[in-house]
Amino acid sequence: MIKPHGSEKLKPLYVEDDLRRQNLIKESESLPALLINSAAAANAVMLGAGYFTPLNGYMNITDSLTVAEKMHTASGLFWPIPCMNLAHDIDQIKGAKRIALKDPNITGNPVIAIQTVKAIETLSDVQLDRIAEKVFGSLSTDHPGVTTFRKLGKHVISGPIEVLSYSYFARDFPETFRTATEIRESIKNKGWNRVVAFQTRNPMHRAHEELCKMAMESIHADGVLIHMLLGKLKPGDIPAEVRDAAIRKMVELYFPPDTVMVTGYGFDMLYAGPREAVLHAVFRQNAGCTHFIVGRDHAGVGSFYGPFDAQKIFSSEVPEGALEIKIFNADHTAYSRKLNRVVMMCDVPDHTPEDFVMLSGTRVRDMLAAGQALPLEFARPEVAEILMRYYQQETAAKAE
Ligand code: ADX
Repeated sequence: MIKPHGSEKLKPLYVEDDLRRQNLIKESESLPALLINSAAAANAVMLGAGYFTPLNGYMNITDSLTVAEKMHTASGLFWPIPCMNLAHDIDQIKGAKRIALKDPNITGNPVIAIQTVKAIETLSDVQLDRIAEKVFGSLSTDHPGVTTFRKLGKHVISGPIEVLSYSYFARDFPETFRTATEIRESIKNKGWNRVVAFQTRNPMHRAHEELCKMAMESIHADGVLIHMLLGKLKPGDIPAEVRDAAIRKMVELYFPPDTVMVTGYGFDMLYAGPREAVLHAVFRQNAGCTHFIVGRDHAGVGSFYGPFDAQKIFSSEVPEGALEIKIFNADHTAYSRKLNRVVMMCDVPDHTPEDFVMLSGTRVRDMLAAGQALPLEFARPEVAEILMRYYQQETAAKAE
């Protein structure tokens, strides 16, 4: 099986042993506490679940800057986006060796992890902007990822963590949230050798479905891992439970049995385009996948990135051999009226834009909210129905 990133073995930081976990939760009650932000909590969940192997916790300023600048830590580990615990207020943890990290996303803020503090440092404005600029490729206040990042605070609390909970992900998505360890185990049990991962933060339309099928066929995959983001999104994006239901329906009706695993991971969307695509590849390798689909405007937002920047980064900036997982580059995919099937545009050079059925996100939302069916060429009717129910509820709620 494909090796985890930078390690012979997966290194999940969740404390599996019940007794030890209970003891640590007890210990946490007497430790100085820090209410962390959602980004740091999502990092803890990813570290806990083994997706961020081989990291053992949050990075210090040196590592964060080197990762932002050159995509590797000071010790040379390839890593594309700093894994940080940033805070505004550190008064309550000054001088502490071990601290209890409190989960901001669950009522009552239970402990999510214990951190052994190696250092507490403070980023200058210049350093903070440098990280944002390198990771997001922008400092624009219109970029949702940049805006979120800049609000996290300037104090950098670094050091290893022991993870005590998977936050709301395990609770709210019991059928879908899976750790990297669990996915590796399932791949092994299914006897799959070649597995292609599909990242998504959207419901899957015909283009997404066919993209998975084309990738599977092209690389002779035994199966596809549909791996959806379950964490926070920008306003207007579709909530995870709706996407989950739509994706499951599509897989049930339109994929051959036993060729798809529908799962999710607990991380907030960064909208960091190319850098996030590389991080996505790292954690799919950790989940045991051999290939990873990168299509048009992967992890993008607005027009901040070129449509294929997220593919280019793998050939221009990721050093040879840094990752074992292979990238399946997908061209813009859409339904062809001429051929009556979904195609990659590079395969049909004779087509003009009018030959494709394409709808913008806004148009799709407007149609569904108005109760209009989506064209069958664009979305499976059973998928569209689930989305329509959601948008109509949303519209009704807004009208009240
Ligand atoms: S993402 O932020 O998670 O990348 P989305 O769920 O829309 O957004 O996309 C999932 C994957 O499908 C990404 O690799 C993206 O590039 C790809 N993709 C989405 N739509 C298309 C399309 N029409 N043509 C080619 N690739 C696409």
